[in-house]
Amino acid sequence: MEEEVIVKIQTKAVHCGDRRKTGAHVPATTPIYTASSYFYDSMEELDRVFSQESEGYCYARYDNPTNSALEAVAAALEGGHGALACGSGMAALHISLLAALADRRRSILAANAIYGATVSLLMNVMEPSGAAVRFADPCDVDAFRQAAEEFKPGCILLETISNPLLRVAPMDRIAEIAKGVGAALIVDNTFATPMLIRPLELGAQFSVHSATKYLAGHGDVLGGLVITDAENYEGLRALSRSIGPVLGPFESYLTMRGIKTLALRMERQCANACRVASWLTSHPAVERVYFPADPAHPDANEIRRLLPAGQYGAMVSFELKGAGREEVFRFMNALRMIVRATSLGDVHTMMLYPAMSSHRELSPRHRERMGIRDNLVRLSVGIEAVEDIIEDLDQALSARDQ
Ligand SMILES: Cc1ncc(COP(=O)(O)O)c(C=O)c1O
Repeated sequence: MEEEVIVKIQTKAVHCGDRRKTGAHVPATTPIYTASSYFYDSMEELDRVFSQESEGYCYARYDNPTNSALEAVAAALEGGHGALACGSGMAALHISLLAALADRRRSILAANAIYGATVSLLMNVMEPSGAAVRFADPCDVDAFRQAAEEFKPGCILLETISNPLLRVAPMDRIAEIAKGVGAALIVDNTFATPMLIRPLELGAQFSVHSATKYLAGHGDVLGGLVITDAENYEGLRALSRSIGPVLGPFESYLTMRGIKTLALRMERQCANACRVASWLTSHPAVERVYFPADPAHPDANEIRRLLPAGQYGAMVSFELKGAGREEVFRFMNALRMIVRATSLGDVHTMMLYPAMSSHRELSPRHRERMGIRDNLVRLSVGIEAVEDIIEDLDQALSARDQ
């Protein structure tokens, strides 16, 4: 900035301190760049940045250095060509669907047991805007193939570990089915994280995360990420420039900070979840436990094949014996350390009641069809000492019957 034209205090207040060129130093971690636009010495230079002839930033809806750093680490973790940081997991799912359908048939074949808001996105947003939507069970591969061959979707949508019943479909075989019918495969990898599985390596075109969960990991961010291959990346970014679902730089910084400890957190959370699930299995007040490490899990073969040994995710769902909504409320109200909250993947252990929360928007009949009963609770196991998690569950299960 030309100092001699900055004379008046009102002008100083607006311009002083800003737009200094960074010198030869490189910050060891990425700072939060809050600027919404960027200043160049000449219009010619700005023009080159706009046309992507020169590297640089011009406007924060297009990109931002903090987001670029987060996108680079996300793409590296999942072996993608590039990534897009979005304001929420739902925004990430929405833009992935739009990108996948941009030059394909406007039809979506989705897994039948997935996050409630994703079902709402498909039925209340995608369908009214002209996309045909069908659901099928991806764990029944032959039936899913038949549905895909009949319906010929432009895209297939799947969750790696489904919410909340923790089913694990054979993603690589679904990717072959998608390829066979010319569909793009979108995988919501929120529950598994890249530490457990990397969908693009198994044939998916888009891997989507609610970064709100494990990636950020501390309960202080709402964010989403889409990781994609070279073929779909430019289309995704062009859509993002038009729609603007981008993540703010502060959330981007927090997510990147979270990712630095993701491997450690996942190791601990997965180990804790194994201990909690096996404890719950033998508790007399528990009717049924849903956990991928269970040898009797309906997808046990796929789980052994696709997930790393000992790392089956840190979500445990379970049904309370003889309980309805009232008993579930009594049990959850009795929790002392475990947080009753609508999210998952944080360092602290949290519990959610799907019928009231993640799958609230669905009708009771729809929930029943998905296998979500009124006595089902979903536990996101944190990094605490596992004895304390078990102790809290134990006292709350006893309190329920008093
Ligand atoms: C599997 C899954 N996908 C997507 C979302 C949506 O993420 P967000 O709340 O960040 O929009 C959630 C939220 O709970 C989720 O559980």
